[in-house]
Amino acid sequence: MKFLVTGGAGFIGSAFVRMLLDASRGDDVINLDKLTYAGNLENLASVTHSPRYRFVHGDICDAEVVNNLVSDTRPDVIVNFAAESHVDRSILSPAPVFETNLRGTFTLLEAARMHKTPRFLHVSTDEVYGSIDAPHEANEGYPLRASSPYSASKAGSDLLALSYFVTYKMPVTVTRASNNYGPYQFPEKLIPLMISNAMEDKPLPIYGDGMQIRDWLYVDDHCRAVLAAIERGRPGEIYNIGGSRALPNVEVVQLILDAVGKPVSLMQTVTDRPGHDRRYALSSHKLMQETGWLAEMPFEKGLKTTIDWYRNNTEWTARVKSGEYQNYYDRNYANR
Ligand code: NAD
Ligand code: DAU
Repeated sequence: MKFLVTGGAGFIGSAFVRMLLDASRGDDVINLDKLTYAGNLENLASVTHSPRYRFVHGDICDAEVVNNLVSDTRPDVIVNFAAESHVDRSILSPAPVFETNLRGTFTLLEAARMHKTPRFLHVSTDEVYGSIDAPHEANEGYPLRASSPYSASKAGSDLLALSYFVTYKMPVTVTRASNNYGPYQFPEKLIPLMISNAMEDKPLPIYGDGMQIRDWLYVDDHCRAVLAAIERGRPGEIYNIGGSRALPNVEVVQLILDAVGKPVSLMQTVTDRPGHDRRYALSSHKLMQETGWLAEMPFEKGLKTTIDWYRNNTEWTARVKSGEYQNYYDRNYANR
């Protein structure tokens, strides 16, 4: 198939592009990415020279760019990973999340409608359900209760995407995944930030009591799930994609400190994130039953693979932490 992937230079999008360009598959991939602070073509170094790959530098909010690209390339499927993806940044500056996550999704949907793209997969998040009280799990019919500007923008874009199925009969599917981790994740997110700070003997900032629960999903398991939803899922449907292990943040950080051989005293409690969701918990029963997908990577093994990757790629981390990163870090953490 010919895929138009947006946000393919980011953490999950680049894993998805690498998966599609693997020798075991024959897909063609066009990657449309604005290269924001989170987009990094180094993540695609292993596939850049593939004759099946093409990169287009552009903004999903730019209707002319998007329309021309869809018209010229006629993809079989559009997979929308492009987003402003970080909750803390969305709290510090909400405008970009609404621009990219809402207007960008709208622009892509309109191009797909105009050019009758056969399939549209919108990548979303479990955060749209808000905090879930134990012992419950959210299934796809659970109410939307977004807490942050980021999650509100994702919930809005999900509704917009699904409305195109209802109104225009467009073959749109929405996936909602839990917290991803793995190689190439930008070190603003919990796991890479803690690995990177621990390796540099810097304090590890724990929001509030650190007992918030996240359900960790290895990035390659997420990519296989998105592909399963495209290949075997039904248009007009939502599919949750849960992880292989739900853990409180402090336990995750403790495992990282143990693995890199650094003391617990590096953990530093800081003021909690405003509107911080206490617990995410998903039922992925529907996706498993309809497509046969399973999260395969055990958390301990995935965490070890991830830590080893950051240990072996200190230059990648140093490069992405230079420049804008320090400004963000100071804005988010300095007065906490
Ligand atoms: P990321 O921040 O690592 O990457 C986002 C990518 O989108 C970057 O390459 C960036 O340059 C690109 N981008 C941003 N704005 C753009 C625009 N206007 N036009 C074109 N490209 C643009 O994000 P990620 O963690 O890889 O997340 C990818 C998707 O998965 C997002 O939609 C996110 O909401 C969703 N998601 C993420 C997680 C997670 O744990 N990271 C979990 C569930 C769902
Ligand atoms: O659940 C899926 C979502 O997971 C995705 O939709 C988002 O794109 C992705 O960023 C992620 O959101 P979270 O807010 O859950 O991830 P983050 O890595 O920012 O934080 C994970 C948990 O760790 C959360 O409870 C906040 C806490 N935390 C995070 C950071 C960065 C800390 O305690 N300290 C920190 O410095």
